[in-house]
Amino acid sequence: MSDYVKIFDTTLRDGEQSPGASMNREEKLRLAHRLAQLKVDIIEVGFPAASPGDFEAVKSICQEVKGPVLAGLARTVPSDIKTCWEAIKYAENPRIHTFIATSDIHLQYKLKATREEVLEKVKKGVGLAVSLCDDVQFSLEDASRSDPEFMCQVIRTALAEGATTINIPDTVGYALPDEFQNLITLIKREVPEIEKATISVHCHDDLGMAVANSLAGVKAGARQVEGCINGIGERAGNASVEEVVMAIATRHESLGLKTGINKSKLFPTSRLVTMITGISVQPNKAIVGANAFAHESGIHVDGVLKQPLTYEIMTPEEVGISTNNLVLGKHSGRAGLRKRVQEMGYDLKEKDLDRLFEAFKVLADKKKEIWNEDLEALIADEILRM
Ligand code: KIV
Ligand code: ZN
Repeated sequence: MSDYVKIFDTTLRDGEQSPGASMNREEKLRLAHRLAQLKVDIIEVGFPAASPGDFEAVKSICQEVKGPVLAGLARTVPSDIKTCWEAIKYAENPRIHTFIATSDIHLQYKLKATREEVLEKVKKGVGLAVSLCDDVQFSLEDASRSDPEFMCQVIRTALAEGATTINIPDTVGYALPDEFQNLITLIKREVPEIEKATISVHCHDDLGMAVANSLAGVKAGARQVEGCINGIGERAGNASVEEVVMAIATRHESLGLKTGINKSKLFPTSRLVTMITGISVQPNKAIVGANAFAHESGIHVDGVLKQPLTYEIMTPEEVGISTNNLVLGKHSGRAGLRKRVQEMGYDLKEKDLDRLFEAFKVLADKKKEIWNEDLEALIADEILRM
């Protein structure tokens, strides 16, 4: 089996479902270009049938952004699938991602459909998607709470119709890592023909286990992991892309896996998502939090000064955080401020830099030295809240 794990970024779709995270077309385009530089394998660019605005944003991204596969989401409803194709057909490498729920609780209360009806929708929906696009992903929403036997029947149906990726979501973040690993193992055992497709995992973080569950899925043979930058997403969020990528890179010897991600773009991408959505990252967040590489206690600082590996399992530079000794104070100029905010991962427009510079000068008159934390606060006040 290949040791390459594809990274499927859904910040523009599931991430946008975070309360308050909706993005306009220009913002989505900017983020999509950055995700292409990050070298994610697949970008889920939106849900074209959800609204005319989403349709237009997906179409613009597909016309402009080159490199990754660009996926659009659709229910297994023919009109959704056709609309999705109309928006994504402009992409260099388009993918239709169609889904339906398979758990009894979703069938009974949400879909009000029988298992036979769901199987029929899968057959028709995937069949239609395959007639339009060579690359079709099928997801079983709420897979981790579905009856395994029915789940396997659904997967067989999707594969028979030509789906090329089968995605197993832990939609409500309910699974435990060993359970999720066993689920993927069961699917591989019961549906051997899945070998010709890619198994994908899509985990939510309701119990704080999205990344652990994703890695458990990969250990069992999944070769695509879905997630969002900064772990944003519906409710408690999705698996954090930067955490999955750095776990695979840092624990390469144990896992024996790799991704194609340009890791030095992780931190700048995280900051761009913060700037666009206005959702800041908690300071102690792994990989991209302000304190992720900070050392406070004397023993730790002493150790790091002697040999960084004593307390650092990866370097800040690896994920695109640059360390520097330039001091910022009341005598600093615009160029110094620009360099520092760039090092902090922000890519400000000139008018935003002007506003920040004014606020910086006011603060610098009151404080001897301006720290990154001060700048984070100024950026939050002066730019993110505008
Ligand atoms: O969480 C989920 O089940 C989803 C699907 C649409 C893949 O987001
Ligand atoms: Zn989801």
